[in-house]
This record gives sequence, C-alpha cells and structure tokens, in this order.
Amino acid sequence: MASAPAPHRRDRAVRAAVSQSLLSPDRPVAALLDTEGVRASAAALRAAFAAVTDAPVLHAFAVKASPLVPVLRLLYEEGLGAEVASPGELALARAAGVPPHLTVLDSPAKTVAELREALALGIAVNADNPQELARLDALVPAAAAPPPLGLRVNAQVGGGSIDAMSTATDTSKFGVGLRDPGARAWIVRAFLDRPWLTRLHTHSGSQGVPLARMAAGVRAVYELAEEINAAAGRRQVDTVDIGGGLPVNFASDEETPTYEAYARLLAAEVPGLFDGRYGLVTEFGRSLLARHGTVLARVEYTKTTGARPIAVTHAGVQVAARTVYAPGSWPLRIAVYDAEGRPKGGPAVDQDVAGPACFAGDLLAAARPLPLLEPGDVVAALDTGAYYFAHHYAYNSLVRPGVYGWTTRPDGSVRFATVRPPQSVAEIVAEAGGDLRDALVRE
Ligand SMILES: Cc1ncc(COP(=O)(O)O)c(C=O)c1O
Repeated sequence: MASAPAPHRRDRAVRAAVSQSLLSPDRPVAALLDTEGVRASAAALRAAFAAVTDAPVLHAFAVKASPLVPVLRLLYEEGLGAEVASPGELALARAAGVPPHLTVLDSPAKTVAELREALALGIAVNADNPQELARLDALVPAAAAPPPLGLRVNAQVGGGSIDAMSTATDTSKFGVGLRDPGARAWIVRAFLDRPWLTRLHTHSGSQGVPLARMAAGVRAVYELAEEINAAAGRRQVDTVDIGGGLPVNFASDEETPTYEAYARLLAAEVPGLFDGRYGLVTEFGRSLLARHGTVLARVEYTKTTGARPIAVTHAGVQVAARTVYAPGSWPLRIAVYDAEGRPKGGPAVDQDVAGPACFAGDLLAAARPLPLLEPGDVVAALDTGAYYFAHHYAYNSLVRPGVYGWTTRPDGSVRFATVRPPQSVAEIVAEAGGDLRDALVRE
C-alpha cells in the first residue's frame, strides 16, 4: 500500500531518478511508475466489488491502457486478468503469463484467424456485430471446448464530455445498437439460436462519461440479459461484462471517483446483477494506472517570444499525444523540479512547457503558471501512467524513453526496476527499414 501521501512519495522518486542518472543531460526524458500505487489500485478495485457481490468477478485489465509486459505481470500477481483488443495485446498478455481463462478478447475488427486462435486457446470472446457472430457460427462447431462467448451491446445511453471516448452514443462504432429499430428482438433471437452464447458485454465509454450514465448502460444490458434468460427458459446469459471506463481526476491528487463509489452505485442501480446470479467481468484501464505514472524531462533551453516565456523540454507529443493534439480534453498537471530533482519554488509565471517535436502545437502546457523554468530543471508530467508514455508516438523519430517502476525501501530510499529500456537510435534505424536501404532503388 502507498506509505506516504502521493506528492511526497513522488518527489522522493524524482530526486532518486536524477541522482541515479535515469535522467541526465544525455538521457533527458524518462518515465516512472509507482509500483506500490499500482498494487494499491488493483487491491482497491478487487475490494470494491467484493464488498457488493459474492459472485465471481474477473477484473480483466484493459491492456491498451498500459501495454507493458511487467505491468501486466504485476497486475496478474495482484489477481487481475487481461482484456485484449489485438493480436499484439494478446501476445503481451501471454508473455506476461496471464492464463487464457483470465483473458478476454474484444476489438471491433477481429479477423477469422484471431477468432480461431482465441477459440483454440480458450480465451473468452465478445463478438462485436452480426457478421462476427456469423463467423463464430462457422468456427464454434469445430472447437473442442468453446470458451465463453458473448455479444457486445451499445446501450446507446449517450456520450460524455470527450466525443472520442464516448462509446454509447447513437452511432458509436462498437457493438450492436440496442435501441436501433428491431435490434433488441434480433439480439434475443440471436441468443436463442446459439446456446453457446452466454455473455453480454458493454463499455459505455472512458474518460468524461458520468458514472450515472455508465451505470445506466450496465442496467440496460442487465435488463437485456434477464429478457434473454426469460425467453430461453434458463440462465443462458450467465456473465455480464461491464467494461471499464472509470474516469480519472487529472486536476489534483485527490482520487475521485473511487472504485468503491462506482461499485456501490452499480449495486444500488442494478441490484439484480449483484445478487449472485451473474458472474461479472470488468475491464478497467486508465483508473488502475494513470495516477501512478510520471514523465520526467529536462529543460534544454528557455526563451521568451512575444512576451511569453517558453521552456523547451524533451517531453512532448511522443509521450503525450492526446494532450498535445487535444489539449482542452486532456490537460496534464505539471510539477517542476530543479536540476538536482528537488521541488522548485518561486513566484508563478505564465509559461509554455514545450516538447522537442518540430511543430508549433507540441506543448505539454500553454501559459501555465509555474515557477520560472531554467535550463537543466526537470518538469514532471503527472498522471501519465495510462495511455501516455506507454503509447509512444514516433514523430521526429524521437526515442522511446525508458520506463522504470519504483518502490520505496523501509529506510525511505527508492529502488528502480527497468520496465522498458530506453530505445536506442540504432533501433530506430532498424525499425525504419535500415536493413532494406536499397529496397526502392534496386531493379
Ligand atoms: C472494450 C473496452 N474495455 C475497456 C476499456 C478501458 O477503458 P478505461 O481505460 O477508460 O478504463 C476500453 C477503452 O477504450 C474499451 O474499449
């Protein structure tokens, strides 16, 4: 469990990262992951659902949020499985040792080969649409022991504050739109025709969707499960996968909303889903990891242009693509440290915290009031443990920074473990066809 308030622990880790040279003039960007914090979040998730139901619950971590094998392994050790949405994510989960029965395959674009592999491995699959169900119709009879199979439903309960994160709008690309004309009857029939279809899946959205709306989506799918089971005259739907989507507070160190609050809300709004008749699957991603990650970058230069102080750092679009391209939706907190990694004080001055990429919008923060930055200082982009540094964007061929998990020893000192080594320039060349130099100039 976290031993001290988050900011103090983080400050200690930044200081140690500088003194242990994870960050240096030659290696000016690095990412840190608070291992104890991740463990604490996983434990809080499990406890929150255990407090509201005795039913079996598989918490399948959404691998897309942090596709790093040691992270998946850590979460597996904490009792979580994996929700995967591509062959790559499945390979990562397998490399982490997550067993098939704790793995769930989603994604709206599964190929026949992916479906066949999932069936052979015994991995649960949520079909996205009628055409995918037709593919399963052809594959299931040949499967020795088909894994749990389900159908994704878009409850169409509405979106949230970020369009790109809203998966339960009328026209979202995921699942079968429950409120579309004729869809409900079609889904019930689809289950009656397929005795092996035993799950319903929904994920009403990620960051920006209000909890009440997510709960309404879960309720809609629960009511559908009841309807299917009544029509079937048996408990054909035995498990409901409620997806993930708990939003993260990017504005302060206060952890809100909590898993506990969401689980209680769900149990109050959809009591029948928690009375033990249904197994549950969850697919949380961002809420497990975001707050435990920090990007550190050295300030290379500072300048003033048009009266605006600008600090040019080594962290920008390559580690914070969402913030750079959609700053209004994804503002990040920035903490500042001096060259030794000590918290930096001083009067706040509005300044831009810029990245190294060659386009004007490459900013971690614009006109942000912070102590005036100087060359050699360290900026920390907070809450970047999910969908940020693990999702490198290769603009300007900037190297992927190293990722280091950290824990504190009883004496307060910080121990780092490499999660992902820093990429080398030679690797960039190799990945960019370095061995194929003459591919386009030969006959
Ligand atoms: C099907 C599915 N499950 C789970 C998640 C994870 O969502 P979050 O990271 O917001 O918890 C996503 C995110 O896109 C998703 O598409």
